[in-house]
Formats: sequence, structure tokens, C-alpha cells
Amino acid sequence: MSKYFDEMKEKFEALRLKKDVTILAIESSCDETAVSVVRNGREVLSNIVASQIDIHKKFGGVVPEVASRNHIMAISGCFKEALSEANLTEKDIDAIAVTYGAGLIGALLVGINFAKTIAYALNLPLIAVSHVHGHISANYLSHPSLTPPFVCLMVSGGHTALLEVKDYAKISEIGSTVDDSAGECFDKVARVLGLSYPGGPNIEKLACNGADVVKFNYHEPLKDTFNFSFSGLKTAVINYVHQKEQRGEEFNKADVASSFQELATETLSEKAVKCCLKMRQRKLVVAGGVGANSVLRDKLTKKCKKENIEVFFPNLKYCTDNAGMIGSMAYYYLKAGIGLADLTLTGKPNVPITL
Ligand code: KG4
Ligand code: ZN
Repeated sequence: MSKYFDEMKEKFEALRLKKDVTILAIESSCDETAVSVVRNGREVLSNIVASQIDIHKKFGGVVPEVASRNHIMAISGCFKEALSEANLTEKDIDAIAVTYGAGLIGALLVGINFAKTIAYALNLPLIAVSHVHGHISANYLSHPSLTPPFVCLMVSGGHTALLEVKDYAKISEIGSTVDDSAGECFDKVARVLGLSYPGGPNIEKLACNGADVVKFNYHEPLKDTFNFSFSGLKTAVINYVHQKEQRGEEFNKADVASSFQELATETLSEKAVKCCLKMRQRKLVVAGGVGANSVLRDKLTKKCKKENIEVFFPNLKYCTDNAGMIGSMAYYYLKAGIGLADLTLTGKPNVPITL
């Protein structure tokens, strides 16, 4: 343990009791460099996101090394902008939060090293936050009165899972994907249809011009469980497209996009609602990038209304990666007395969801 850490333990304990806590949060796990200032876990004072989408588009996906280099170039500007947009100076910040995983290791390390440097220089506690937990917190920023307990349908790029959120920092997994995440499946199907990165939003756009009329050679697996499997669906769509191309047969890409989207969103929404009923939970919270999908939102809204379940979606700006959600979750880690990190903090490609 460093001298810095010993001092921070005391500061951290004092902060737990402080009335107003202002956290500056940093997120760099994938292709967005983001810095945000959040007060008391709920109030976003600034939310700066420097997206690298246009840079990675020409490669058809995120290139880890390119992402790290661009984080390095963007992070210091984002930090300054986050403070100035919040109308604050370094002196007004109570703690620094940073995403330590899951994500691309090189990309994570840029945010982590920047966060460690400013935490040490400003003599502030450093709070290490799980990116996946951050996605849940995006909902606290979007719905002021939302409180646990609830069931969470986690549909970020890297995770597809059903979670039981008993309290802000008491989270367990009910079921998860046994292979690909739904987001990966959207991205791979988009690629085979010749759509650019990021795939999910482009599938959604293309599907608007098509209809759910294509029958893939696919049967939904794991139907009676709360686990998901998306690799079979992905393969069925890819095989359909490749066969059509090899035989030189015409096919409608918009119909393929629509039919795929229908199947993917049906399994997600069906299981999420069944899970709430099984858990006797009347609140369902959606988290992560795929939660931006309007067909998924419509299906969940209708199914939840029918079962008398209240459903919550994050505002679109907090659905995909941002640092506001990390600043929010850091506040709840702090209140629960967890997450305080030493200067030895490093990035983790995977982190357990259970808290
Ligand atoms: O949560 P997120 O921003 O990043 C991770 O934590 O990984 O999620 C990114 C994923 C990508 O797979 C992207 O294609 C998907 O979310 N996505 C969508 C939509 N917007 C983003 N998928 C379907 N429909 C959308 N509108
Ligand atoms: Zn994410």
C-alpha cells in the first residue's frame, strides 16, 4: 500500500458522509474518450464524449491500437472541457473515477493512467468502476426517481445478461449469453450485409425499409432458460446471405436486416419480461448500447405494459459509452464503501458482474 493510499482511505471514509459529492469520471474502455462531472450520482454537470467512430469506420470495426493512440490525443482536452463546461475548477472535485474494465486493455490504460496522475496530483481518492455497472447507472441519470431493487436487461456491446440489482452495489447475474453478445451479433450481421461500423444503428436504419419476411434456418436455443445464445442466429443469417451470393440469387438486404432484428429483439424482450415475472419484480431496467434499438424498446414497452411491469430505458445519450454513467456508479460504490484504488490500479479485459 502506498502512502497516497493510506491517506486516501481516510478521505474516502470522510467523503462517504459528505452531503454533496462531486466526482470527475473518465471512460476510455473502447472507442469513446469521455470525461464527465457528476454530482451525487444523479446530476450531470458536464458530459464530454470524443467519439472515434469516423476513425474506425474505414477498418470496419475498432482497431485496438488506433483506439489507444486516439485516446492519448483526446483525453487531456476532454478533461479541460469537462471542468469548464461544469463551470468548476480542480478544487471543486471530491474524487476521480475511472473505468478499469471490461474493455480493450490498451484503451483502458490510457484512461487509468490519466486518472491516477490527476488523483495523485490533486490528492484525491481514485475510484475504480466496472464499465458494465456504469451502464446500469445510466438509468439513474435518466430517471431521477429510479431506485433498486429491479431486474436489469444488460445489452452492452460486450455483455448480454439478465441481472438482479438488489441495491446500488448489490448485483448478481441471473443469466447471460453462453456465446456472442447481442451487440456483437448486430455488428457481425451488419458487416455481412455490407453496412459500416457501428453495425447496430445501421441495421436498425436499414430494417426500416424492409419487412420481417425472411425465414432463416434457425431455431431459438435455450428457450426455457434465462441464458442467451446468439451465435446460432448470427451463423444462420451469415449462411443465408452467403448462399444467396454464391448462387447469384437476388435478395433484399432490408428484409434480412428486419427479420434478423425481429428475432434478436424478440428473444431479448421475451426473456426479460419472463425473468421479471419469475423474480416477482415489477421494475425492468434496460442498459447498454443495444438498448438504443427502437424495436427492442417498442417490444419491451408493449410486453411490460401487458404484465404491469414498469420499464426504464436510458436516455439515448447515456445508452452508449459515456463517463456520466461511470461518475454515477462511482458515487454508489463510494456510498457502499467499495472501489477505492491505489496507484497500482491496472486495466482488466474482463471483470465479474456480481457485486
Ligand atoms: O454499450 P455499448 O456502447 O458498448 C459496450 O459497452 O460495448 O454498446 C455498443 C453496442 C454495439 O454492438 C452497437 O452495434 C450496439 O451497441 N448498438 C445498437 C444500436 N446502437 C448501438 N444495436 C442495435 N440497435 C441500435 N440502435
Ligand atoms: Zn459500453
